[in-house]
Amino acid sequence: RRPRVWVSQPLFDDVVEQLGQHVDLDMTGEVTRYTPQQLAERLAEVDGALITLNERIGAAEIANAPQLRAIANVGVGYNNLDVEALSAAGILASNTPDVLTETTADLGFALLMATARRITEAERWLRDGQWGQWSFQTLLGADIHGSTLGILGMGRIGQGIARRGALGFGMRVLYHNRSRLPDATEAEVGAQYVDLDTLLAQADHLVLVLPYSASSHHIIDAGALAKMKPTATLVNIARGGIVDEVALADALANGRLAAAGLDVFEGEPTVRPELLALNNIVLTPHIGSASQATRRAMVQLAVDNLTAALGLGPNAGHPPSAINADAVAAAKAS
Ligand code: GLV
Ligand code: GLV
Repeated sequence: RRPRVWVSQPLFDDVVEQLGQHVDLDMTGEVTRYTPQQLAERLAEVDGALITLNERIGAAEIANAPQLRAIANVGVGYNNLDVEALSAAGILASNTPDVLTETTADLGFALLMATARRITEAERWLRDGQWGQWSFQTLLGADIHGSTLGILGMGRIGQGIARRGALGFGMRVLYHNRSRLPDATEAEVGAQYVDLDTLLAQADHLVLVLPYSASSHHIIDAGALAKMKPTATLVNIARGGIVDEVALADALANGRLAAAGLDVFEGEPTVRPELLALNNIVLTPHIGSASQATRRAMVQLAVDNLTAALGLGPNAGHPPSAINADAVAAAKAS
């Protein structure tokens, strides 16, 4: 029997269809939002699934999926997956790191610049016909070059942002991370390790690039915001839940933080009215990895992961970017 694979959303058909050499494909023609029940029904019928971060998969969704062996997440962050539940069920999960690093670092930097220099606010002002009221002090923002860039979360994307800041804009780059980078890497990306309070206190611009988990939930809360400079810019390209959005909206509305740029939100695709009401905020709809070339590369990597996880193709049994290979092996051995 050929394995059966479910593809949760329209991705790039020509890339996904490579899977058709090995498996029967159950493609989705239209963008779809699934209930947990619908996810469970789809997963019940297949050996593997290619999914996006909008599909949340945990114990309940896989409870009736005895044949399911592989889930390929088209995205680097995988807080939509309950990895422990998947491992216990012997399901090999994978994500798409590396291929999106530079594209996402580009977006982080674009959002930082748009936020600090008030680009979208300036465009609204122009389109509203306000240019006639121009004064010498209209739309003044904060400098990027020569300022202090803080990076919270120093994975590959954080390092890409550090390089851009240090090498391209002459910034002093500080970072905080659960583990410190090797000295040679710190030197190469031009960043200096500091504790979280120092990072908050010294950053002129703070970019959040850490994975979302119970320990990073609301790490930027009212207390953390109070430690930042009132002139600072905050940019979040990681996951919405890292920031307490109510506290952020309050700080932005009351002059305790100059501006924020958000690509991710706690209630995606819903954005809080308190955020929408603010002028000193740049909002983008989770487009960090959204370049033509990178979105294709992500699907290609997910296809390669899924093929290998199903024991097929040249890397059979060894997906290039598995998340839980050791845990699955241990679950199978026990
Ligand atoms: C997008 O946020 C991703 O994790 O790839
Ligand atoms: C996370 O995997 C990152 O690339 O920052």
